[in-house]
Amino acid sequence: TFVAIIPAGGAGTRLWPLSRRHHPKFLLDLTGSGSSLLRSTVDRLESLADETLIVTGAAHAEAVAAQTGLPTTAIITEPSGRNSLPAIALASAIAGRRYGEEVLVGSFAADHVIDNEDSFHDAVLTALTCAEDGYITTIGITPTHAATGFGYIKLGSELELSAAETPDSKPELAIAATMLAQTSLHVTGPHPIAPPLPAYRASQFVEKPDAEHASAYLESGEYVWNAGMFVMRADVLARHLRSLMPDFADRIDAIAQAWDSEDRQAALVAHWDALEAIAIDHAIAEPVAADGGVAVVPAPADLGWDDLGDMAALRQHLDVDVSEHAFALDAPGALVVDHRTGSDLPLVVAKGIENVVVTLTDDAILITTADQAQGVGEIPKWLAERG
Ligand code: GDD
Ligand code: MG
Repeated sequence: TFVAIIPAGGAGTRLWPLSRRHHPKFLLDLTGSGSSLLRSTVDRLESLADETLIVTGAAHAEAVAAQTGLPTTAIITEPSGRNSLPAIALASAIAGRRYGEEVLVGSFAADHVIDNEDSFHDAVLTALTCAEDGYITTIGITPTHAATGFGYIKLGSELELSAAETPDSKPELAIAATMLAQTSLHVTGPHPIAPPLPAYRASQFVEKPDAEHASAYLESGEYVWNAGMFVMRADVLARHLRSLMPDFADRIDAIAQAWDSEDRQAALVAHWDALEAIAIDHAIAEPVAADGGVAVVPAPADLGWDDLGDMAALRQHLDVDVSEHAFALDAPGALVVDHRTGSDLPLVVAKGIENVVVTLTDDAILITTADQAQGVGEIPKWLAERG
C-alpha cells in the first residue's frame, strides 16, 4: 500500500497579491491549466497512490475538499501551521494505523508544477524501491542555476537496490513491481524488475545556501536540488523521530491513536501546540543523511519541475498572456498577469519596460521586475505593520 501525503500550508507571500491568507498559493490556478496547483498534485498522484491524505489548516479544509473531491477522512485539518514536520509525521502515523506500520508513504508539496508525468512516475517508483529498503528517500532535480531558494543535496555513492520481485515474495514490492509493469514494462510472468532510475546515498543536505555556496554547488556537479518530496516507510520515519525527537514522537503517536475516534479534539488540544514547528528537511533529512540513511533519486531532466516561488518562476510556465485588458508592448521578458474579475475593466498597457512584472487583482496591483520578484514577500509584512 502506498499513501500519498500532501502538506498544504504556508501563504506563499512572494506571490502577493495573487496569494493571500484566505487564498493560499496551492488553491490558485497559477499556470492557466484550469486546475489549482493542489488539484494538479492530487491528479498526478492518482494512478500511483492507494490513498491521498492532505494536511491543511482548518480555514482551508472546505476549499480543499471542494477542489479535490476527497472525502473528509482524507483531509487532516491542523489547528495551526507548525511547518512541514508535524503535518507529515501526523499523516504518516495515521496512515500507519490505517494500513499497518510498514505502509509506504510519500510527501509531495502542494504547490509545485511538473510538466512530465511519466518522468515523475519513474522517479517515484524508484523512490518506493529505496523506501522499501529502509531509506528516507528524496527526489533530486539537476540544478540549472545557482538558486538560493532551494535546498541542495550532495550525491554520495550509487545504491544497489533490491529488484522488485513479482508476484509476491514481499507484498509491498509486488505492488511496486506491478506499478512498474503498468507504467513502463510489459511483464508476462514472475521475474524481478529493476527500478527505472539509479539512486544514490545522500551525503549532505544544505537548506537554502547563500549565493556564493549555491554557485560552488552548481559548478561542482555533485549536488541536486531538493524537490521537497520524501518517500519512506511509516515505521522508518517513526523510528527516526523516536530517536531524534522522543517527546515529539510521543505526541504524534498520541494524536494519531486518537485520530479516527471521538478523542481527536482532546488529543489535539493536549499535544499540537507543544510540537516543535520545524521542517522535515532540517529535523529528519539532515541528521539521518549524516548517518547514511537518506537516498536520493535524481529525476529525469525532462521532469519540468518548478516550485513557482515567485512571479519570475511563474513566467516560464505560462503559455501566453490571455487577458484582453492587460498586456505588454515592446517589453522583452515582461509578465502581465490579470486575475481581475467583472466587466468594464480598465485597459492596462506596459510599454518599453524590460522584465516588468505586473499582477492585477480586484483589490491590488503589483508592479515590479523579474529581478525583484523574490522581494515581493516583504509586501504583506510591510502592509500588516502599516496597519
Ligand atoms: N500542512 C502544512 N502546515 N503544510 C506546510 C506547513 C504547515 O505549517 N508549512 C509548510 N507546509 C508545506 C507547504 O505547503 C509545502 O507543500 C511543503 O510543506 C514545503 O514547505 P515550503 O514552505 O514550501 O518549503 P520551501 O519551499 O521553503 O522549501 C522546501 O521545498 C523546496 C522545494 O520547493 C525544502 O524542502 C527545500 O529544500 C526545497 O528545495
Ligand atoms: Mg515551497
